[in-house]
Amino acid sequence: EGTVRASDLKKGLKLYDPGYLNTVPVRSAISYIDGDEGILRYRGYPIEELAEKSTFTEVSYLIMYGTLPSESQLAEWEFAISQHSAVPQGVLDIIQSMPHDAHPMGVLVNAMSALSVFHPDANPALRITTIAAAVYLRMAGRPPVLPSNTLPYTENFLYMLDSFGNRSYKPNPRLTRALDIIFILHAEHEMNCSTSAVRHLASSGVDVYTAIAGAVGALYGPLHGGANEAVLKMLSEIGTVQNIPEFIEGVKTRKQKLSGFGHRVYKNYDPRAKVLRKLAEEVFSIVGRDPLIEVAVALEKVALSDEYFIKRKLYPNVDFYSGLIYRAMGFPPEYFTVLFAIPRMAGYLSHWRESLDDPDTKIMRPQQVYVGEWLRDYVPINTRT
Ligand code: ACO
Repeated sequence: EGTVRASDLKKGLKLYDPGYLNTVPVRSAISYIDGDEGILRYRGYPIEELAEKSTFTEVSYLIMYGTLPSESQLAEWEFAISQHSAVPQGVLDIIQSMPHDAHPMGVLVNAMSALSVFHPDANPALRITTIAAAVYLRMAGRPPVLPSNTLPYTENFLYMLDSFGNRSYKPNPRLTRALDIIFILHAEHEMNCSTSAVRHLASSGVDVYTAIAGAVGALYGPLHGGANEAVLKMLSEIGTVQNIPEFIEGVKTRKQKLSGFGHRVYKNYDPRAKVLRKLAEEVFSIVGRDPLIEVAVALEKVALSDEYFIKRKLYPNVDFYSGLIYRAMGFPPEYFTVLFAIPRMAGYLSHWRESLDDPDTKIMRPQQVYVGEWLRDYVPINTRT
């Protein structure tokens, strides 16, 4: 065709693969997905069992070090996290200087990349909760609250959000456990868009915080982590069960997408969505039932029995029910994706480490099929038409 040169063909078979549908650039021992069966395991443990029996700090240890911790290892890990939970003042100042109506994910991206400037040593601490809390408090025009160095991870996060610095404040333990379970479910998911961004950036040798800032940027998008916010907006717009048929018609005629449905890998019910659907009921039993759950459940029912969705194997994904839980817990929709970024840090850091340890890692440098002009004569500006 004139655009593929013989010298390119000598290098072997190349696959034009937009979106990397069939490209496997890494090997990993961290998580396993069987998309047809709806299976997700972290380091060999089924996600359902971890969500039921474990805590997020245990699971983050598992993801990062490969085994469930002993009691003493867990105590050491939690101590290390709390020792590294403070954030440089310069980063907090950047958060505070952002416009009051800036999107929290935009603020988070800036704060994560600022860590590479203020704190370039690559300590894989999960200090993101302190940053995430400062981002939340900035939205409310409140100053950051220092983390406690005695409270467990998720309780500490809620403490920073809601305590106004009152040291004796205790978040509701059932809501804390619900958020901890949500954190477990979101901690890791192999080569999704943002995790592959971490590996991509890490392959250039850049510092961990810059790599993670890039990943958080990818997570922000509505086709990825930003879908949890998009789902809530969609459910609010649909408003009542009566409006569902018209909305579904709009999806089928490609006016809009059904946010929180479909997945590159799952061609079955996302196992995380199943746990979240049940968890939503538990949270509603504490804080009251969100009327939009009826819309979500009816929407799911209609979609799962419609030929359009059946043919394409479109099922609810992790984002379909999480937003309703976050809203019930009092979080504003713009903040939902920050709640996704917090636990995913465990996956990002683990992939970052795994990629550095793998002797096969090379700088990621995909190729293109050139479709532009082949060779042109340069025309001086005064003679261009
Ligand atoms: N609503 C309506 N149609 C959909 C949806 C949806 N949510 N998802 C996929 N489809 C359709 C596509 O239009 C396409 O139809 P076609 O073959 O007739 O053109 C077919 O299903 C296949 O979809 P693709 O877009 O090719 O699938 P891909 O793997 O590239 O995209 C994605 C996956 C981005 C998740 C997609 O399903 C989507 O946009 N979903 C909505 C956004 C969302 O919920 N994202 C969160 C995913 S989970 C996460 O990242 C944390």
